[in-house]
Amino acid sequence: EKADIGLIGLGVMGANLALNIAEKGYRVAVYNRTTEKTHEFHENAGELKDRIIPCDTLEQLVGSIRAPRPIILMIKAGDPVDQEIKALKPLLMRDDIIIDAGNANFHDTVRRLNSLAADDPTFVGMGVSGGEEGARHGPSIMVGGTKEAYDRISPVLTAIAAKYQGEPCCALLGPDGAGHFVKTIHNGIEYADMQMIAEIYGILRDGLGLSAPAIGSVFSKWNDGPLNSYLIEITAKVLLAVDPDTGKAAVDVILDSAGQKGTGRWSAIEAQMLGVPATGIEAAVAARSLSALKAERQVAEKAYPSGGTALSPEDRARFIDDLEQGLLAGKIAAYAQGFAVMAAASKEYQWDLPLATIARIWRAGCIIRSQFLDVIAEAFDKGSPENLLLAPAFIERMTKGSAALRTVVSTAALSGLPVPALSAALSYFDSYRQARGTANLIQAQRDFFGAHGFKRLDREGDFHGPWSDIGA
Ligand code: 6PG
Repeated sequence: EKADIGLIGLGVMGANLALNIAEKGYRVAVYNRTTEKTHEFHENAGELKDRIIPCDTLEQLVGSIRAPRPIILMIKAGDPVDQEIKALKPLLMRDDIIIDAGNANFHDTVRRLNSLAADDPTFVGMGVSGGEEGARHGPSIMVGGTKEAYDRISPVLTAIAAKYQGEPCCALLGPDGAGHFVKTIHNGIEYADMQMIAEIYGILRDGLGLSAPAIGSVFSKWNDGPLNSYLIEITAKVLLAVDPDTGKAAVDVILDSAGQKGTGRWSAIEAQMLGVPATGIEAAVAARSLSALKAERQVAEKAYPSGGTALSPEDRARFIDDLEQGLLAGKIAAYAQGFAVMAAASKEYQWDLPLATIARIWRAGCIIRSQFLDVIAEAFDKGSPENLLLAPAFIERMTKGSAALRTVVSTAALSGLPVPALSAALSYFDSYRQARGTANLIQAQRDFFGAHGFKRLDREGDFHGPWSDIGA
């Protein structure tokens, strides 16, 4: 009996996705460049073994799948994907579908799609979030491609996707690069979310002097409130974990230098290219880059000692409440930015991205999953706010939260504790709600040195300033 679907790449994500597919009753043919891995995977598949067809060659893989064939690529993003498409293309037919499920740059997805001829297989760019566990038991799936292609693969995709109150977290979001673009912004928001959590951890650790397990308890309690989310939940768990070798808190033995594979950076780059302010995301990317400068930071701490003075807030419990509310406010600003980037991309690329649906399919399965996304989905259902900060549900939350965020950011600043993403979020909020900003001065400067012209508040038209009178 032939397989319903094929999967190439049995790394952690691919292997778990294949098991998920098999578990949902589909037969899946699998291939990995190193053949031993394919057979090892098959051997260890337990009761799912019968639904998995291990293949040693691409020819065998293609021959094992019932036509028209859907084939998922779960391999390293970048050049390997081009190589694989090149190798597969001659073996496939027009109605076959290659699904790139990696963290591709959406520009590559668009390019790959455009490079396929009319009689080549169809190409689908699919964002998958949820890490190892998600891949195995239900990820969030963001699809970009044609409706025809999606209709053919959606039964298996909705079967393997996470469910939020029974609704599958999987949707066709638009053509070509839309799915990978949305996944990229998901990761940008993920970076911002993680960074803000880390900043609050820093205040609790270096400002209030709490131990890792004590901070873990704080996060664990917050997870029962409005911050409830996967990232807060795992933060609590991580902080409570003990390093078996030393008996110390696990986080206390981990080097403070963060890795990044590119998606967060891409989201900041795309925001910049679209001219959308996404300062919380940018700050989070920059914070990771700065974290990697460990050696320089060690020298700098000697040059500028006394960073991170201890805090002694009058009312400690109240300050901890402010940290909770402030984190929520920072998170709202970062999500507002992420959704604004998607709204702009949707216009620019004529994708017609369904923002409410995106929020819905992020409610379960993905790394940023939370009930908070339900509120975002509802806000987009009720109207199309230019920015989430203008949605009634968020106006209420931000009014309260921004005061707390202000306390958090100012307290941290006064004691030398870095809060780059939280302060970016606060400044974004303060700039956004300021009807009369300060760019009139920028315009005057531009006109002074480059005769760029400006508009006036009181009259239509383009004007120049009286700079020559003062020696321009
Ligand atoms: C997800 C994650 C996933 C992966 C990223 C992390 O949504 O499941 O975002 O895609 O963990 O590659 O990216 P960094 O390595 O850049 O942190």
